[in-house]
This record gives sequence, C-alpha cells and structure tokens, in this order.
Amino acid sequence: MKVNLQSYLSEKRQLVNEQLENYVRDYSYPGRLQDAMLYSIEAGGKRLRPILLMATAEAFGVEEVKTLAVASGLEMIHTYSLIHDDLPAMDNDDIRRGMPTSHKKFDEATAILAGDALLTLSSQVITDNEKLTDEQKVFLVRELSKASGARGMVEGQMKDMESENRSVSLEELEYIHKNKTGQLLNFAVMAGAYLGEATDFEMDQMKHMGQALGLIFQIQDDILDVTGDADKIGKPVGSDEGNHKSTYPKLLGLDGAKEQKNRLVQTAVEALEQAGVNDSWLSELIDHLSSRDH
Ligand code: IPE
Ligand code: IPE
Ligand code: MG
Ligand code: MG
Ligand code: MG
Repeated sequence: MKVNLQSYLSEKRQLVNEQLENYVRDYSYPGRLQDAMLYSIEAGGKRLRPILLMATAEAFGVEEVKTLAVASGLEMIHTYSLIHDDLPAMDNDDIRRGMPTSHKKFDEATAILAGDALLTLSSQVITDNEKLTDEQKVFLVRELSKASGARGMVEGQMKDMESENRSVSLEELEYIHKNKTGQLLNFAVMAGAYLGEATDFEMDQMKHMGQALGLIFQIQDDILDVTGDADKIGKPVGSDEGNHKSTYPKLLGLDGAKEQKNRLVQTAVEALEQAGVNDSWLSELIDHLSSRDH
C-alpha cells in the first residue's frame, strides 16, 4: 500500500542526503574545500531532482540501488549551479536553503571552487558505481553533461543574465526556462526511464512530460519569488524584481503565469498517461511541483 507523498518524499530525501554526504567525504580531503562542499550539500535542499529520477525509475521497475549514484550526481550539479547562481557576479543573493550563501559563509573563491568540485564529482560517482554497466555509465554521463552544459543549464543561465534589464518575448523566456531549469529536471525523468529500459515511444512521452515539468518548476519558482514566504522558500523574495529579471509573472502577470503553469500540468499528465505509467508517484509529483510553497 502507498504511504502519503510527504512520507515518500522524506524517506527518499533522507536516503539521498546520506548518499551525498558519504560521497563528498569519501571523494575529497578534509579541509576548507570539503567544508564548503558539505556546507552546501547539507544545507537541506528539497532533493526534488533525485527524487523525480528515483520515482521514474521505480515506475519502470528499476531497483532503487541502481539509481543512487546518478541521482546523487544530478543533485551535485544542481547544488553547484545554485552556489554559482548566488554569486555577486550573478544573482548576488545572500540566503540559500535558509542559510547564508556559500560566498557569504566562506568567500567568493571558495564558493567558486566548491561549485567546480561538485560539478566534477558528479561524473566521478557515476562512473565509479558498480551497479551500472559501462554502457549505462557512458549514456548517463553523456546525457547529464548535455543537460548541464553549453546547450543546457549553463546556456540557460547565460541567456538569463543577458535578459536582465531588457524585455524578452515569451518565446525567449521559454527558451531560458527550458534550459536553465528544464533540462536537469528532464534529465531526471529521462534517466529513470532509460534505466527502466523504456521503449522509444515511452521515452518520447516521458521526455515530453519532463520538459513540461521543467517549465512548471521554474514558473512556480518565479511565482514564489513574488508571492512566497522567505522563511519557507529559504531564499529572499523579490530577488528577480531587484535584478530586473525576465520572469513569467513579469511577462504574463501572476494570473497569466498560473494559467500557463496549469496548461503545462495538463500536458504533463497527458504525456504520463500516454506513456502508460499508472500507479506511480509521478502524477502526485507533478501536482506537488506545480503547487509547492517552498
Ligand atoms: C531552485 O531549485 C533553483 C531553480 C532551478 C528554480 P530548487 O527549488 O529545487 O532548490 P533546492 O534544491 O530545494 O534548494
Ligand atoms: C536559477 O534560477 C536556476 C539555476 C540554474 C541555478 P533562479 O536564479 O531563479 O534560482 P533561484 O530563485 O535563485 O533559486
Ligand atoms: Mg538566477
Ligand atoms: Mg537566483
Ligand atoms: Mg528564482
């Protein structure tokens, strides 16, 4: 019998937390770099990307132990992207996950290097994992690199920075969101389905779902930057406004942004149905990602 989503999330979060901490301790030397890596890793993110990966894998019948390295690698890349996103040269934010940002707690050089170390560690833990075949390792590292890099998250971050202080079209904004946030979320879904040997048709539908989910996630992040409670979201409210960012609420208004998000929820639910995935946590996760308050 299924427990409720909150228990599912907290059980998986704990598993991911333990795994991440062990990896960082095992793969770095004690010292300032390790302290900074652990500081951000242990700061208590929601772990939604690894959980989405694990829930998708579970829906396709994969043993949990096969997902842990790639789920951890994905969260390391996400955490590095946040450390760098908060730097003065980027969004210049002081609070993350309810604590001072890495450059505030340590210093800018340490924050940059802790990010670099988490980024590179992600490939190492996947390629070292004994539960994956060599073919799976190559596929997963390649796809994760694509989703994170110059045609993925980093490209989205670049376009996000370039769109400060100017108005962008809805098309450009969608491009930014799809890349800076959507690609890592899509990777989570895609990697889970891949490990479960999804058919080409199922994989296409799951990619469709993952893409919608990525946009839903960032639209909700933009909405929370306006309407959220800083204590709950663990980061400042109004950061986007202060940085003159291009966001969905800015372009469409709050109601317009919510309508767009609801349309995407419909798309994601339909794609999941098309993929034939029933009785999994994924439909509840779609709702949760879209209506979360933190
Ligand atoms: C924040 O991501 C950055 C975005 C891509 C919107 P999360 O909201 O998943 O942040 P954590 O990991 O829970 O701190
Ligand atoms: C950044 O988006 C997404 C990343 C790739 C890190 P935001 O700049 O909106 O993320 P927050 O609001 O600072 O978490
Ligand atoms: Mg940003
Ligand atoms: Mg930011
Ligand atoms: Mg934001």
